[in-house]
Amino acid sequence: MAPLIIAHRGASADAPENTLAAFELARHQRADMIELDLQPTVDGEIVVFHDDDTARWNGRADVVARMTLVEMRRLDVGGEHVPTLAETLDWARSVGMPLNLELKKPGMAVRCVQLLREFRMVDQVIVSSFFPQALHELRAVDPAIARGYLMGIRTYRPDVRLREFWPFGALRRIGATAWHPYHGLPGLDWVLPKVQRAGYQVNVWTVDDPVRIRSLATLGASGIITNTPAAARAALALETQ
Ligand code: G3P
Ligand code: MG
Repeated sequence: MAPLIIAHRGASADAPENTLAAFELARHQRADMIELDLQPTVDGEIVVFHDDDTARWNGRADVVARMTLVEMRRLDVGGEHVPTLAETLDWARSVGMPLNLELKKPGMAVRCVQLLREFRMVDQVIVSSFFPQALHELRAVDPAIARGYLMGIRTYRPDVRLREFWPFGALRRIGATAWHPYHGLPGLDWVLPKVQRAGYQVNVWTVDDPVRIRSLATLGASGIITNTPAAARAALALETQ
């Protein structure tokens, strides 16, 4: 089966990342799902934003976790504004777009699940995180929501033997339903089919190279997280119109 094409921060090669414009463009590029990043504001709201501070957008390192929702809404992100999780769920519900919500920090599970229930999106999302604690919290609030464990190069120790890189222990401890590895993890091509055969979804990030997209599909990846959904579809000879 062809992997799902998951738009990384929306169609972020062609529109400002993590904005409704990027999500709408991803839909037009026929993404099957959209990945987006979540950060808490100081007044308890959840916004769609990747970085811990605003430096990349306004040249000032204002810390998101110390900003209010109103302050975040004033930020200009490439001519767009920062969406709230509520507004994004409302959009996704209305167009029938599944989401991969990445928790950039622990501490958001209660509010996140509250919104998922309000917008009837509980069964239309995978919630992922690099932080096991964030996924444990999510499981405690609602064990039925799909959880993906993100693994990057920084959590991999190049000096350990390959078998210690095996992700099953972490996936079991977290009770994850999916593994979200970085596409360049050493040993990935060897371990991916084993994880997939064990019944986990494997959604690999962030891959724009058509050759690598095809090789990951051949290895059995369930999803390709990409900045270029239309090109990824073309790479897999999937319909693009
Ligand atoms: O969810 C995959 C990917 O988004 C993780 O890295 O830094 O782009 O959020 P990052
Ligand atoms: Mg992300």
